[in-house]
Amino acid sequence: MLVYLNGDWIPGEDACVSVFDRGFIFGDSVYEVIPVYGYRLFREATHLSRLKASMLAVGMDMNALTVTWSAVFARLAETLPSGEGTVYLQVTRGAAPRQHTFPANAPLTVFAYARPRVPETGVGTGYEISAILCDDIRWTRCDIKTASLIANVLLAQEAAARGAEEALLVRDDRVNEGAVSNVFVVRAGRLLTAPRNHLILGGVTRDVVLELAAGLGIPFEERAPSRAELLGADEVFITSSGREVAAVTRIDDRPVGDGRLGPVFRRLHAAFQTFKEEVRIGTRT
Ligand code: PDD
Repeated sequence: MLVYLNGDWIPGEDACVSVFDRGFIFGDSVYEVIPVYGYRLFREATHLSRLKASMLAVGMDMNALTVTWSAVFARLAETLPSGEGTVYLQVTRGAAPRQHTFPANAPLTVFAYARPRVPETGVGTGYEISAILCDDIRWTRCDIKTASLIANVLLAQEAAARGAEEALLVRDDRVNEGAVSNVFVVRAGRLLTAPRNHLILGGVTRDVVLELAAGLGIPFEERAPSRAELLGADEVFITSSGREVAAVTRIDDRPVGDGRLGPVFRRLHAAFQTFKEEVRIGTRT
């Protein structure tokens, strides 16, 4: 596997980062995951603006980067079989003697690679999963896409240990998002999803789904559902760059609605497939 590291193109197994890198020592880093369909990057500009926002939020200087992202992405996409997968990129605050405050002169570490799409291991269709409910143990800057992901790692692991594919996170009785995804609830034909604020990562897939819903005339409200609204929902689904749009048909071992894929999910899922096809042939980004 070919990777990009600080301006060089090298085989993944030869790519090395210093043990003093702040990404390693402190999790002092930001990242992005960008889907690739037919060698084309999905919403590249939006992912790059989110990267910029994350860097700004943690005090990393975007102007200090010399990388031409589009050229790097194009080359990484070429490494994917049939051009299908995701690009992962990470920027850390560089290598420096360990002290919590920012180092004076450490160049940022920039790393990127592409990986083929991993088939879903969830129930049935590959876009149907089960989930558990968990307390949201994360900090309150969930809007920053940082690779300090220990809370998300523990939550995802808890889901896996309980035979589920995602943990839906509750804070103050509100379901804001999942450990690795945004969450949508359908009640009486209406979509409900948490608003973009510091308690969620503003998902790129989430925004595409809201655009598709608007186009299909499906009403939606950006308000975090309560736990009761989630558990009493007709349908629940999640969105993310990795899983795209996936139905949650069981929560804590109980069926959601009638336990089957719902009509609103089916319409949005189908619209998302069309959207992807348009990205593949280059008529949409
Ligand atoms: N995560 N919320 C959280 C906490 C996430 O980790 C993700 C995605 C999302 C969805 O965002 P997007 O639609 O832009 O991918 C929401 C990525 C895929 C990951 O960490 O692998």
